[in-house]
Amino acid sequence: APVKSILSINDLQLAAAKKLPTNAREFYDSGSTDQITVLENTTAYRKYKLRPRVLRDVSKVDPSRHILGQKIDFPLCISPARIQAMAHPDGELATSRACARRNVHMGVSSFSNYSVEEVTGAARSIAPIVHVMQLYTMNDRAKEERIVRRAERAGCKAVFLTADSPVLGVRYNEHRNDFRTPRGLSFPMLEKTSEMIREETHDDGFVALNSDAHSWAREIPWLRSITKMEIWIKGVLTAEDVALAREYGCDGVIVSNHGGRQLDGTPATIDVLPECVKAAEGQIKVHIDGGIRSGVDIFKALALGAECCWVGRPAIWGLAVDGEAGVSKMLDILYDEFRRCMQLTGCNTIADIRKSCLGIAQPNGP
Ligand code: FNR
Repeated sequence: APVKSILSINDLQLAAAKKLPTNAREFYDSGSTDQITVLENTTAYRKYKLRPRVLRDVSKVDPSRHILGQKIDFPLCISPARIQAMAHPDGELATSRACARRNVHMGVSSFSNYSVEEVTGAARSIAPIVHVMQLYTMNDRAKEERIVRRAERAGCKAVFLTADSPVLGVRYNEHRNDFRTPRGLSFPMLEKTSEMIREETHDDGFVALNSDAHSWAREIPWLRSITKMEIWIKGVLTAEDVALAREYGCDGVIVSNHGGRQLDGTPATIDVLPECVKAAEGQIKVHIDGGIRSGVDIFKALALGAECCWVGRPAIWGLAVDGEAGVSKMLDILYDEFRRCMQLTGCNTIADIRKSCLGIAQPNGP
């Protein structure tokens, strides 16, 4: 079991840092270029202060919420993040099992080391959670279509189309460490082995894979024509793009800057959440990821209008520390913190978490 001394996500990150070799740790933790956005994603949450209501009966607090058509224990799911088997051999299988044990949903990266069939299968005997398939806009449309069809057959409920990556963000660590995926891993959704991917340095593999000629008009109607799954756009940061997602009939957006790994200099996601929620006008779901490191952060994002939060790196740190048990530890920490925050602010249900729960020390809003 993970060491007793791990009490917070910060503890988990430090424990993971001790276990991972430098190149893997930097690959997971870094953002792009000057590391401004990756840092601000977390620090921005500090601006928002809580406005607790006291002397309320919170003995029957209920942190559960319906997300993607199904009730989960609390509004927190795990974002799609690649190469999880570099953190622990069980990789995405361990993540999937931990999600099922905590009853939260999971995103499967197109760069996962286990197939979507294996990842959904790993959870099935534990709990019927929802998996969503992350997709890039690829040059090879036939391969992209195979990923979509496999995901739908494997039981995925939605496609998360990552819209912020026509080209790869510049991550200096990958150049300085000459980062290559470890030998012996496979990328079954991309139909590739590590050996095939190792041939490609940093950007060139991505350039061959991803399409920089993508567009709303090219992607969304095509996706709609090949799948019945919900279509969500991951990587939206502006009201204008929320409006386009609505116009194209998408089911939801994830307000995300890819954890600060793509365009450095974009705002913290929590700071643009209010404009995105406003543009959605309740007509399209709005979720958020990036920098969420505590139950209080989840509470603040909900108060600013997000239906649900997602975390990327915390799951990787859990995997690195202790595989499935480490990811469970991460989810349990966030669950306990979120539930306690609800009680200490006087909220009994998710519906009680609203703008008035946040206080005055907010230079930028809401
Ligand atoms: C990611 N992310 C990501 N996103 C995506 O759409 N496809 C992918 O393959 C990956 N891979 C990936 C790897 C690693 C190591 C990280 C850290 C992130 C982005 C991910 O889905 C999510 O948006 C961020 O991780 C959220 O930020 P936090 O929670 O890591 O701060």
